[in-house]
Amino acid sequence: MNFIEIAENRQSCRNFDPDRQVETEKLQAILDSATLSPSAVNRQPYFLTVCTGELAKEVAKATTPLGFNKFTLNSPIQIVISEKPPVAPNVGAKMKKCDYRSVDIGILSAYITAEATAQGLGSCIIGWFDEKKLRTLCDLKDTVRLVISIGYAKEDDKLRPKKRKAPKDLYKIL
Ligand SMILES: Cc1cc2nc3c(=O)[nH]c(=O)nc-3n(C[C@H](O)[C@H](O)[C@H](O)COP(=O)(O)O)c2cc1C
Repeated sequence: MNFIEIAENRQSCRNFDPDRQVETEKLQAILDSATLSPSAVNRQPYFLTVCTGELAKEVAKATTPLGFNKFTLNSPIQIVISEKPPVAPNVGAKMKKCDYRSVDIGILSAYITAEATAQGLGSCIIGWFDEKKLRTLCDLKDTVRLVISIGYAKEDDKLRPKKRKAPKDLYKIL
């Protein structure tokens, strides 16, 4: 798949197949792509806790407060992305009054979900979760920013038409 094919085929999977496990080499390809993601001042200010087996099930439960995100219970892999504290002042970030770490984590998530798509896997970025529970489950002290659920989509899960802003509301060429 070239990039545009990946972008067209990636969608938030909310219909995982609970009976299909993800091959180790596919998971490794996703993690390899994560290591290539760019970040401000090349700091890579994040850590990935890759949860499989029983831990993945517990992590999935922690993404369902108020009954949301129950579809994660069927995905065999949950990647918990935590944000590392700054190791040194980022002068650019201070001058711009912008903490780029969330931006970096967003790009990382795009890499992970793009590679998952290239591997024929479904994925969903999850921003709604019980952070305290996740920290306990994954033994993390740092802020948890996102969880990415990964697994095979069910066979009958169709590619949905993308709902996006009209191009005129999204960009202009000057
Ligand atoms: C930062 C972020 C957080 C998200 N959190 C959730 C979530 O908690 N639950 C969920 O079902 N989808 C979540 N999504 C998925 C978005 O709803 C989805 O990307 C958007 O509706 C576009 O649909 P698509 O991914 O299928 O193209 C999240 C996406 C992002 C980028």
